[in-house]
Amino acid sequence: MSDNSWGQLKDSLQHCTCCTLYQKATQVVGGEGRKDSPVIFVGEQPGDQEDLAGRPFVGPAGKVFDEILASLEWPREEIYLTNAVKHFKYQMRGRRRIHQTPDVEEVDSCRIWLKAEWRLLRPRLTVALGATAVLSLTGKKQTLSSLRGRILMLKDVAPFIVTYHPSYVLRQPTEEGREKAYHAIQSDLKMAKDFLEKSE
Ligand code: URA
Repeated sequence: MSDNSWGQLKDSLQHCTCCTLYQKATQVVGGEGRKDSPVIFVGEQPGDQEDLAGRPFVGPAGKVFDEILASLEWPREEIYLTNAVKHFKYQMRGRRRIHQTPDVEEVDSCRIWLKAEWRLLRPRLTVALGATAVLSLTGKKQTLSSLRGRILMLKDVAPFIVTYHPSYVLRQPTEEGREKAYHAIQSDLKMAKDFLEKSE
């Protein structure tokens, strides 16, 4: 798809007022990566650091994601990475901005942007990082454990792989839990990489 279409999408996204999240966010955070990538990774929404930097996955969850990609020798420059919701949703606690999960209406309102990215990219594989991405891509709230670990052939988003959000690793209270979550995501992403290599 032409650079112009991507440029038009970027321009339109800057003016998004589809829900109220733009009012408190510093800026909109669109996707980034190769515009001819065979794969799209979809996260939840920008966090505190992404909101300030204007780029997806540059904070702590992004570091986990980068580490897993690196362990699979999968350069981030080769993928396209975006979020289901393009503005940071948070509440103030003291001077800190604390992440809040976007609600169904916010995910629904923001879906037009994800659809536009998806249509321009036409990926061979879609990977959902976490439940909000699954909600955006399928329109349904579903448990990750019922979906992950295999390649799904859904009507509108096939082939489709679901894995945990990288922040799930950081939320585990024990080292053992962190390792287990890390290896679960790593194994799902390896499946994604193998799938792309086999279907080239
Ligand atoms: N979490 C996400 O889902 N996306 C980001 O860009 C950062 C954190």
